[in-house]
Parts: sequence; structure tokens; C-alpha cells
Amino acid sequence: MLSQEEVLKKFINGKSQGEGSTYKNKERARIISVTSGKGGVGKTNFTVNFAIELARRGKKVLIIDADFGLSNIDVVLGITPRYDLSQVINGKRRIEEVITDGPYGVKFISGGSGVYDLISVNRDDIEMFLSELLRLEKIVDVIIFDTGAGVNRNNIQLIQASDEVILVTTAEPPAIVDAYALTKTVIKVDKATKIRLVINRAENFSESEEIFNKFKNVAHNYLGIDIKKLGYITDDFSVSKAVKAQKPFTIQFPNCTASRNISEIAKRFLNIGESEPKTEVSGIRRFIKKMFG
Ligand SMILES: Nc1ncnc2c1ncn2[C@@H]1O[C@H](COP(=O)(O)OP(=O)(O)OP(=O)(O)O)[C@@H](O)[C@H]1O
Ligand SMILES: [Mg+2]
Repeated sequence: MLSQEEVLKKFINGKSQGEGSTYKNKERARIISVTSGKGGVGKTNFTVNFAIELARRGKKVLIIDADFGLSNIDVVLGITPRYDLSQVINGKRRIEEVITDGPYGVKFISGGSGVYDLISVNRDDIEMFLSELLRLEKIVDVIIFDTGAGVNRNNIQLIQASDEVILVTTAEPPAIVDAYALTKTVIKVDKATKIRLVINRAENFSESEEIFNKFKNVAHNYLGIDIKKLGYITDDFSVSKAVKAQKPFTIQFPNCTASRNISEIAKRFLNIGESEPKTEVSGIRRFIKKMFG
């Protein structure tokens, strides 16, 4: 019987059981963590509406709720999943069975505590679970984790296993300070982490630029990293109205300012994806490697 390390190696190198061919670049999904230093800054609303905008642009998107079941993605999406990821981890369900379809074909998996159980999957189950995870890549182009807020082990582990991080902050100093603290910790673990900033609830474009430039300069001078701005979202009353109606704001109010901002962000995200060179290992394989360390 193979050890956990041998099983992992086999998967990462692309020669897993029932999957004879070498892994191809185009089959890789982009794995994104949406995170924040401070709670309540708009991660879940961003995640859901960003996913919908990507889907409107033809991408197949899967959201995984990684906030210990507290992310409320289901409430914002207005759907109720029957199962969660922990049933895949314990071998009771296939990955397709825990996926719920939302608007525009956006798929959703409730993580429960499941995402973090990955770390402690027992050796007998690991090969089966890894092949379940790899099957996701055949179904979707982008996987977005809605993570918890703040500096904690689970959050950092998930962030460093993702291909890219979208860091959400508001324009308020406490949110910015916490976003910086999280950045510092993430960079300590892996300096090459790609961090993109989204400034939510901004007054306007120029306020978002001012905040972004300050953040970028501090990160450059003190951490030696280059942070990119993915965009900003205006503080818009339509967001709150849509949340109350349990509908994503890009569906309930497609022409509101926040919806137009999200649409710009999705466009930029897809442009970045096409312009940046692919690293040798990314997507689910890299995720598995980093998650299991
Ligand atoms: N652009 C916006 N304009 C106005 N209100 C907003 C905006 N973004 C978020 N909000 C408000 O902030 C609330 C919290 O947003 P959300 O639940 O997405 O935050 P979160 O970061 O996921 O929170 P948590 O850390 O608890 O998971 C929303 O219910 C909404 O009322
Ligand atoms: Mg949330």
C-alpha cells in the first residue's frame, strides 16, 4: 500500500489512478481565495456577484464556502444545499452530489468544516478524495473560496494553497489595518502569493485610488511586494436592498452602481488571467500539494 506522500506525489505529477494522461494546462481551474482582514467588509456579497459576472462572461464558476458554514453564501444566493463537502471527505457522496446549481449556472458547495478536514483525511480515504477533487477541474474554470476573515491558521493555509488571493477591504482605517496585517502574514509564508485588492463601499473611484496607492506603497516599501488593484465597489444602498430580498445585487439591480463596478472587476480579472504566464503547477494539483503540505 502506498503512503500518503506517495499518493500525493502521484497525483501532483498527473498520473493518478483512472487518469492515464498527463495533465494539460488548459484543463486547470483558477483557484481564488476571497478573504479580508476584518469581518463584515463584503466578502460574501463580492464572491457571489463576482461569480455571477464571470458566469455571464461564459465562465463555469464554483463557489466553495470555506467559512465554517458561517459565510452565508446560501442566504445571499437564495439557495439551500442538501449536503456539504464533509460527506465527500468521509466517502458518503460523490463531489457532484454536493454541488448545488445557482443563478447563471454558478455552482456552490457548502464547506461546513469540510475544507479544513482536508488536512486530517485518513490515508485510506485520501486517494479517492483526491480523485473526487480533480474531477472538479473538468466541470469548472474558476473555483472561488469564500474564506473567513483575519489571521488564523486555516485561513492562511487556504490562501497559500490558492493560485490568487482577492483581498477585500473597505475604506475605513480599521479594515485597512487588518488587511495589511493579513497581507504581512501571508507574505511571510509565501512571498510569491498574488494578492489583488478590492476596495468595497468606497465613496467613489478617487477615494479607492487613494487608499489603494497608500496600501500598495506600504506593501512595497515594508514587505517588498507588488499588490495589484482589481477594482472598487461603491457604497450602494441597492446592495443592502438585495441582501434583504435574498437575491444577488447583480441580478436584482443589474444597472446599479455596485453591479457596474463588479462587472468592471470581472472584466479585469479575466484580462489578467489571459495576460499572465501560467506557472508550471497550478489549479487543483497545486492546491492539493499546498493543502496537504
Ligand atoms: N458595496 C456595498 N454597499 C453597501 N452595503 C454593502 C456593500 N457591500 C456590503 N455591504 C453590506 O455589508 C453587509 C456584510 O456583507 P458580507 O456579508 O458580504 O460581508 P462578509 O465580509 O462576507 O462578512 P463576514 O466576515 O461576516 O463573512 C451586507 O449585508 C451589506 O448590507
Ligand atoms: Mg461572509
